[in-house]
Formats: sequence, structure tokens, C-alpha cells
Amino acid sequence: MARRKKIYEGKAKILYEGPEPGTIVQYFKDDATAFNAEKMEVIDGKGVLNNLLSEYFMNGLNTIGVPTHFIRRLNMREQLVKSCEIIPLEVIVRNYAAGSLSKRLGIEEGQQLPRPIVEYCYKDDSLGDPLVSEEHIAAFGWASQQDMDDILSLALRVNDFMSGIMLAVGIRLVDFKIEIGRIFDGDFQRLVIADEISPDSCRLWDIETNRKLDKDVFRRDLGNLTDAYAEVATRLGVMPKNSPQLIKPTLIN
Ligand code: TMP
Repeated sequence: MARRKKIYEGKAKILYEGPEPGTIVQYFKDDATAFNAEKMEVIDGKGVLNNLLSEYFMNGLNTIGVPTHFIRRLNMREQLVKSCEIIPLEVIVRNYAAGSLSKRLGIEEGQQLPRPIVEYCYKDDSLGDPLVSEEHIAAFGWASQQDMDDILSLALRVNDFMSGIMLAVGIRLVDFKIEIGRIFDGDFQRLVIADEISPDSCRLWDIETNRKLDKDVFRRDLGNLTDAYAEVATRLGVMPKNSPQLIKPTLIN
């Protein structure tokens, strides 16, 4: 295969220049990190599962008219996406208390929130992605008021969609994080869901048992992460038939 130009390497993914202008190849690594990469491990098969799951969620969102950067999956570890400028915010939607919200406000994990709560964090690893308000976002020009209206509406639509498909397979969507990209089209720009939607970026609990089926399994040492993600993929019907292939990281470049 021809050597491709690497554009960016993050903690869980690598971005390569795509085959056509305006496209990017997104490669899913097996690396798992938590607490701003203080905890790190390579977990065989995680990248494959996140690639398949993110494809499933992004395809569904595109189908119901929530625009995403996703074009198509290329292979077990890569997908073709539209190139976009990432807004430097992590947009978090919470339906039940957990994680940093529980810690910050002293609310027991698992308590249903009176309504979905949307939070914004400034994407900067060196600062630990701090929570920011819309005042900060406006004052520092990270997004306009129109962008923020669009982002809120996108985030709530993703929440309804994801809550519904998870409920159908006996999983509670506790919370999730999305990233938003800007795509320029002449004088116009539009916002799309970018990055990934996967058990790395959601909290997913079994409805009956509250068993965790997301990255908290790794963050909190609760067992085998690949088993948890494979459980989600199996319930959603996206688990590949040839599962042993999962375990072998493919060679790239
Ligand atoms: P938090 O409770 O730790 O703030 O996490 C809220 C949601 O955001 C949870 O579903 C996990 C996800 N998340 C990420 O995707 N990336 C991150 O770096 C962090 C801290 C959380």
C-alpha cells in the first residue's frame, strides 16, 4: 500500500490524508487511556469494535438527518470521514448522574437527572479539558451564539437517538461526549458530529443489572474491556462473524 501522510495522532486514533480532497482516513488504535493518559494500556480488539460501533451510530444519525463527518467504513480499523475543523469543545450530555458530575455535585451515581444536562469542556489536554461556561465560549470566540444554538440542538438529537437504540437492546445511556466539526462549503459553513461515538465516549449500563459496558471498565479496573464492548456490539447486531480477526491488529502504512 502506498505510504499515506499522517495528519495527526491522538490517544485513540490516527488521522491520515484521505484519497480525495476534503476527506480523511480515521484509524482506530487499540490504545486505551484514562485520566488524561495517566493510565494507558493496549487492549486487543478495542479499535476494531469502536470502528464498527461508531460506524453504526454515525450511519444511523446520518439517516435520521443529523449530519456527521462519517462517509463510509474502509476496513476493520479505518473509516473515511469528511475533513472538518474541530470546535475545541467536548460536548457532554448527561441523563443520569455519574463520573465527574457525581464527584463535583455530590450526587449519587445512577440517579436520574430531572432533564438532560449539557456541559462543555475546553479541549486542551495540558489543562485537563476543564469545564467551561457559554460565557467563556463566547468571550474567547471558540464558537458563536448561532453555533451554540446548533450544537445544543445537535447534542439533544444525538441523545434521543442514542438513548432509543440503546434502550432497545437493554442498555441505559447514562451520558456521552461528542465533538463537533465545522465544514466549509464556499461562503457557508455547517456543523457536523465528528470524531467518534463509541463505548470510549459514552457511559452504557445494562438496564437490569447496571453492569458497566463502557470505558469505565478500564478506568475503574472492572474486568475485560473488549468483552464489554463486544457485548454492546453483539446486542446491536454489529459484531463481526469472524471475531478472531478482532484480536490481530492490522499492519498500516
Ligand atoms: P465525566 O463524567 O468523566 O466528565 O465524563 C462524561 C462523559 O464523557 C462520559 O461518557 C465519558 C466521556 N468522556 C470522554 O469521552 N472523554 C474524556 O476525556 C472524558 C473525561 C470523558
